[in-house]
Amino acid sequence: MANSHPRNESTNRSQFIKKYFGNVLHKSFLDFGGNRGNILHFHPDIDKSKYTCVDVCQRSLELGKKEFKLGNWIHYDRYNYAYNIKGKHDESLPIVSKHDLTFAYSVISHTTIEEMIDILKWMKDATKEKIVVSYLDIDLLPLREYFYNQRMKKYGWCTNFIDINTENINYAYLLDEDEFIVNGTDLKFPEGEGLFVTFYKREYLLKKLEENGIKARIDISPTHVPFIIVDV
Ligand SMILES: C[S@@+](CC[C@H](N)C(=O)[O-])C[C@H]1O[C@@H](n2cnc3c(N)ncnc32)[C@H](O)[C@@H]1O
Repeated sequence: MANSHPRNESTNRSQFIKKYFGNVLHKSFLDFGGNRGNILHFHPDIDKSKYTCVDVCQRSLELGKKEFKLGNWIHYDRYNYAYNIKGKHDESLPIVSKHDLTFAYSVISHTTIEEMIDILKWMKDATKEKIVVSYLDIDLLPLREYFYNQRMKKYGWCTNFIDINTENINYAYLLDEDEFIVNGTDLKFPEGEGLFVTFYKREYLLKKLEENGIKARIDISPTHVPFIIVDV
């Protein structure tokens, strides 16, 4: 799992860059969890010399650096059950210069809620204009169905988190072995590496961010991907 992210139409984020950032020419661009810089391949308007990728996966960064020499590739050696099991649990977020735009696609869908808040606070300090971060919304059934179907394919069975009542769920973690942990209690990562997906309740997410000094709004893309948007 801790490998380079595939490059195909399903990992092409160009439509979101266009929709949320508009013209990115000459802008400095921080791609948090950007893996090997697929975004530079799909959206060539991003100025490579003003591009920074921060990721927990060293191997992906090496591939990115090899392909896009002008970019700035920063390893954030933080433990992640899905992407960096050898990382440190108490690693601080790296010091980066301020960038005009910050983007994170499918990254806080693999962190704990506490990490997610630290990341968004850090992004606010690291960004001059706009932050756009995708997340998984517990109330969007197609997203839950997607992961349910993946688990069914992989294991032949899956905990039922499709028919659940999401009313009292603020956030939930889906772990390998099909554990579905609601509201964070009892989260304990198994040995080794595995799947780790986080779903958030929209209202709770906004409330938590506001409590931490971040005024955000949410937009759902026409392809049903929910985004947190912060105008800095
Ligand atoms: C599903 S991939 C998405 C890659 C890329 N953003 C894209 O849209 O194709 C998740 C990426 O987030 C990185 N990642 C996961 N947790 C992270 C964290 N806490 N800090 C930085 N990167 C993280 C992973 O190493 C991986 O490259």
